[in-house]
Amino acid sequence: MKTPKRIQPLVEDGLIDEVISQLMSGKEATVYMVRCGSDICCAKVYKDADKRSFKQAVQYREGRKVRNSRQARAMEKGSKYGREEQEALWHNAEVDALYKLAQAGVRVPKPYGCFDGVLLMELITDEDGDVAPRLNDVKLSREEALEHHTQIIRDVVRMLCAGLVHGDLSEFNVLVDQHGPVIIDLPQAVDAVANNHAEWMLERDINNMRDYYGQFAPELLTTKYAKEIWAIYESGKLKPTTVLTGHFDEPTEAADVESVLVEIQEAFEEEQERLGRIQSANDDD
Ligand SMILES: Nc1ncnc2c1ncn2[C@@H]1O[C@H](COP(=O)(O)OP(=O)(O)O)[C@@H](O)[C@H]1O
Ligand SMILES: [Mg+2]
Repeated sequence: MKTPKRIQPLVEDGLIDEVISQLMSGKEATVYMVRCGSDICCAKVYKDADKRSFKQAVQYREGRKVRNSRQARAMEKGSKYGREEQEALWHNAEVDALYKLAQAGVRVPKPYGCFDGVLLMELITDEDGDVAPRLNDVKLSREEALEHHTQIIRDVVRMLCAGLVHGDLSEFNVLVDQHGPVIIDLPQAVDAVANNHAEWMLERDINNMRDYYGQFAPELLTTKYAKEIWAIYESGKLKPTTVLTGHFDEPTEAADVESVLVEIQEAFEEEQERLGRIQSANDDD
């Protein structure tokens, strides 16, 4: 196909030889299948900030480090330089997360680098060599659902041990290849220590997976991996090899009614946001 304008600089630099096809165009990015020498890769072109939706929300940025105070001041003021810096940080966040997670043994696409707002990475394919489907598009047997759920929980733990929470993990951001689930779409990944929203984001991520795989294996629906994992993490004992049960005994001390109400309101808002995302993902199809 004709080379899209945003990819042209990478063709001129010899990083990409040919754009084969467009895979997806969503709210946040447009994704292409490209040829780099004899390899077929995936190129993700981020949309401009004003065309993106929720992921640049301030909640996700909390705790991200900036290089120096000049950069921080410019970003606070919202000057042109500041906005460009903010964009560069956003683009680099995903490639940085991919390198870190690949290193930690999490199944993610192998990253090749981010150039001019274009992320080059491994194209995930199925056993026939076709582009791998999203989890939302596959039917699983009960056994497969249980096995894939175990794999994804293990990867979420590896990720947390590497200091990151995905923050937008859902059946739309997991691809399925012949070996199981592969996690994608990480520009919003949050710092587990520095971001105060990390706990509820981890819980939402894990519960999305529980609910999705639970359609095929209903016994998953009563598991409490999120609470169990966070409790072990907070005690400083979580390791990639920690044995998990899916059980968690809620603390029994007297209920703090006010904070329960706040949590209910937050859970309601999250659910509205999640439904909105599912709606817009369906609109994109
Ligand atoms: N490495 C990859 N291999 C195969 N398909 C991919 C890859 N990365 C993204 N895609 C496809 O592109 C879609 C959008 O990518 P994603 O990273 O989720 O961006 P967005 O922020 O737009 O949701 C995915 O749902 C998936 O279908
Ligand atoms: Mg996505």
